[in-house]
Amino acid sequence: MKRNINRARSQSWDAVAHWYAGWTGTNGSRYHRTLAVPLLLEMLDPQAGEHIADLGCGPGILAPPIAERGARFVGVDLSPRLIAEARKIHGRSGRFLVGDATHLPVHVELPMGGFDGACFLLSIQDINPLDAAIASAARLLKPGGRLAIVMLHPCFRVPRQSGWGWDEGRGLKFRRLDSYLTPLAVPMQSHGSGTTRSYHRPLGAYVNALSMAGMALTGIREIGDLPMQGESKADRRAAGEFPLFLGLKAVKLG
Ligand SMILES: C[S@@+](CC[C@H](N)C(=O)[O-])C[C@H]1O[C@@H](n2cnc3c(N)ncnc32)[C@H](O)[C@@H]1O
Repeated sequence: MKRNINRARSQSWDAVAHWYAGWTGTNGSRYHRTLAVPLLLEMLDPQAGEHIADLGCGPGILAPPIAERGARFVGVDLSPRLIAEARKIHGRSGRFLVGDATHLPVHVELPMGGFDGACFLLSIQDINPLDAAIASAARLLKPGGRLAIVMLHPCFRVPRQSGWGWDEGRGLKFRRLDSYLTPLAVPMQSHGSGTTRSYHRPLGAYVNALSMAGMALTGIREIGDLPMQGESKADRRAAGEFPLFLGLKAVKLG
């Protein structure tokens, strides 16, 4: 069942924390390690001595690669269980706080205007409302501070509203899209106390949220899926042609 996005607020992944932390493992899932984290690091370009905030950090897999670059890492997530997991596994690489990215808590580790960089790694589509999340990130940043966002490509990967098809006549695998402009709250993982949701919004919603928060978009990267062993030429072409992930980078205007 799809839900109108306006009625749904973002939810902690606490109820599915065990499953999610198991899926990502200590260093992130295969998608994290090979595509999403490298893309995030490329868009954020963290430097030694910088102060970086990760909103919707989950089990904290971004902390080690940020710490390896000599930057200071603070992760925030709504889920107390995922934050406990992050502290247990990655506590040496950063600080982790329970908090709502759409309404950040006042905390000594989260000084407003104190960060050189902020990011959402595969979390922005699980956080609602979007404008409040982007505004929070912008408030954390110094003037000239950078924001990096990595997400499923909203133009091609709309949960339950997109998929693959096969054109027999042309021998061509194509991407099919059943809806795009309508914002949606799509149920994803069911659990005892409800369902986690993914929030689909068209690309313009992200660009406009950045602009409303006083941020200028400075780069976009779109990347295809990983090659699978034994896949056909048509599969390979389609995986490389239709992006899986979208990376955005923006800078806070002075
Ligand atoms: C798909 S997980 C991504 C976690 C992590 N960035 C990663 O790549 O492994 C999405 C995360 O967003 C968190 N989340 C959802 N709404 C949130 C909010 N309003 N504030 C902070 N975190 C939120 C969930 O608890 C969950 O951990």
